[in-house]
Amino acid sequence: MKDIDNQDDLYLLVDEFYKKLLADEKISYIFTDVVKIKLEEHLPILVTFWSQAVLGTGGYTKNLTQIHLDVSEKSYLSPELFKIWLDHFYAAVDENFAGEKAEQIKTNALSIATVMQIKIAQKNA
Ligand code: HEM
Repeated sequence: MKDIDNQDDLYLLVDEFYKKLLADEKISYIFTDVVKIKLEEHLPILVTFWSQAVLGTGGYTKNLTQIHLDVSEKSYLSPELFKIWLDHFYAAVDENFAGEKAEQIKTNALSIATVMQIKIAQKNA
């Protein structure tokens, strides 16, 4: 299996990942009811974000943690939801890619998810 090495790979990854999220009713309502995302606009933003994180390109400038604090204000993003999110993300990576970048993107997602959860917990304390 190949590693992640360009933006087309990332597009495939986020596409497969969102298919899993949207097919899982334990989490899909966040994307369809709480925030009504438009996939054709959302997926390219995710590609830009992950490209910056693992391919070293630039272009993502927003405060990602704040965006998720705002989502969590509307509907609580619990530790259970983060686990579901991460499980689908890991599966989407492992079903399509293997290598250094594939490992890096999973570690990166876990660190970001951990920071988000700490900030959400602080806000709710
Ligand atoms: C429980 C877990 C999560 C849920 C339910 C969730 C849900 C969402 C939702 C609803 C949006 C759209 C927000 C909006 O447009 O107002 C969003 C955006 C986004 N999420 Fe998450 N998210 C989760 C975790 C994460 C994690 C751990 C990461 C990164 C490692 C991440 C990366 C992104 C990115 C890059 C965007 C695009 C933000 C932008 O528009 O600039 N998400 N997420």
